[in-house]
Amino acid sequence: MCGIVGYIGRREAAPLLLNGLKRLEYRGYDSAGIAVLNGDMQVFKRKGSVGNLEEMLNVSGTVMLGATAGIAHTRWATHGDPSDRNAHPHMNVTGDIALIHNGIVENYSTLKQDLISQGYVFNSDTDSEVLVHLIDRIWKSDPSLELEAAVRQALRHVEGAYGICVVSSREPDKIVVARKGSPLVIGIGNNEFFIASDAAPIVEHTNKVVYLSDGEMAVITRDNYTVKTIENVEQEKRVTELDFSLEKIEKGGYEHFMLKEIFEQPEVMRDVMRGRVRIDEGRVQLGGIEDYLDRLKQAKRVVICACGTSWHAGLIGEYLIEEFARIPVEVDYASEFRYRNPIVSSDDVVIVISQSGETADTLAALRLAKEKGAMVMGICNVVGSTIARETLCGMYTHAGPEVGVASTKAFTAQVIVLFMLAMALSKGRTISHDEIRLNLRELAEVPDKVSRILEQNDAIKVIANEFKDAKNALYLGRGFNFPVALEGALKLKEISYIHAEGYPAAEMKHGPIALIDEDMPVFFIATRDNTYTKILSNIEEVRSRKGRVIAIASEGDREVSRLAEHVIYIPQASGPVMPLLTVVPFQLLAYHIATLRGCNVDRPRNLAKSVTVE
Ligand code: F6R
Repeated sequence: MCGIVGYIGRREAAPLLLNGLKRLEYRGYDSAGIAVLNGDMQVFKRKGSVGNLEEMLNVSGTVMLGATAGIAHTRWATHGDPSDRNAHPHMNVTGDIALIHNGIVENYSTLKQDLISQGYVFNSDTDSEVLVHLIDRIWKSDPSLELEAAVRQALRHVEGAYGICVVSSREPDKIVVARKGSPLVIGIGNNEFFIASDAAPIVEHTNKVVYLSDGEMAVITRDNYTVKTIENVEQEKRVTELDFSLEKIEKGGYEHFMLKEIFEQPEVMRDVMRGRVRIDEGRVQLGGIEDYLDRLKQAKRVVICACGTSWHAGLIGEYLIEEFARIPVEVDYASEFRYRNPIVSSDDVVIVISQSGETADTLAALRLAKEKGAMVMGICNVVGSTIARETLCGMYTHAGPEVGVASTKAFTAQVIVLFMLAMALSKGRTISHDEIRLNLRELAEVPDKVSRILEQNDAIKVIANEFKDAKNALYLGRGFNFPVALEGALKLKEISYIHAEGYPAAEMKHGPIALIDEDMPVFFIATRDNTYTKILSNIEEVRSRKGRVIAIASEGDREVSRLAEHVIYIPQASGPVMPLLTVVPFQLLAYHIATLRGCNVDRPRNLAKSVTVE
């Protein structure tokens, strides 16, 4: 999610690099930094905007003049707060190697301990810094190596995902880059080369690019570039001609950020689980709560507080924690919790969930729970946000910046974190080692299953077209899928302005059934689980009142298609992971209905991405 820019050529590097960083601002970031080579290595980094960094460079005068090679970075924090010291580039102790990194080094803590035991001193809390010290150690142990070889050897020790750029004043006429998991593009100019994490910073300079593939490295000089695998096998690369507008590139080729973020979900889900889900060991590794896990397991009760979509994730969390860990859970709207004199004590654990980490009501609930002596844990997406700072412990969702106002990938990331938490709370207490492995395997299969659902995007658009003029809509689900019904209705109303309500399907007969007529679309979640036959009866009830049924059903199901006007089939999965699948068609339906109605899906009226006021 971080942004990477590099330049090597004959022009002044610093202004080109800063301009490139500005082109990446759309990705969201919390700090920025730059390293250039003009004889020496010069590194500047700053928390906050690229503008802050630019100001710093202006104040520093002409230090960067004459540099025609360099690298620059915008950081979206994953390990360590947003701060000057955690910003990239990171340097080795002698200040002659600088590195920027996009991705997550999963085994950073083992590597870090190892380096510390050999006398290395760390200047940041990031996972990325281990990379530069690792390269330094290898290079120092064999000074006859070239930078490229030192980087190659270092990467053999690294588990996880990376896109990196490395420069050194010892070899000032080259940039070494490598990719595994995090994208890197090389732009080919006239006796100059650009490097970036996506084509946005490159397109104004050249439309000729080479995309590095996973497991490849490149060495780029002013006149040439060579691409090899990390195992040192030379690669023939095809030069691609870009024909995108800048705006399209920023949105990854999608029409809207919301659609891009819906499609990012399989990748985001893998990122959330990366390094945490250990199927073979039958456990999850949750660094942020490890020291508090025993206390969490002893909680008499868990209270989850959140707002909006995060509250829906909390409801799924309730089902998961009660199902597996057998700890009673209550889920409260943060805005209600804060004003209703809740009964909370030191026996309770309060979990606050927030994408932004800045929601005023959630923050107030957190502070009240602390005042009452509860242990407060956070689940946040934005690292270093107020909620993340004020909670005793917590877990980040690692969903990357969410730009679309309607939450999509942050929601599924929250549910995955809650699933992992439920496993951690159950381990050694309520479910067996084998059951944990089974559940984790189910969870690990979700990203591929979501990809298969996303392949139905065009078919879902056709369904959306039929319902774009609806005035009302009803969403019904049961069990783990009841919160998904709420979330489906929220997605539709907030971006399409169609009135929609979600209900547990069985509640329909206690009121909402009165609304059903031939104009009412009713979206059912009818996947195969223990309430399947009950849901079929609910569908019959709607049909007999002429309601229009759109159902999400399990692949291979024949019953539902007999009853519903439209069926969206999804891969079968166990009940507890099902919400991660069933929510996806609802996100796409809401998106298409809203765009077909001409609504601004990324910026719906009256809504803000971060609700920092009551
Ligand atoms: C809906 C949506 C909102 C947020 C809510 C809480 O799509 O985005 O309902 O979920 O405002 O925001 P966070 O999670 O930032 O606390």
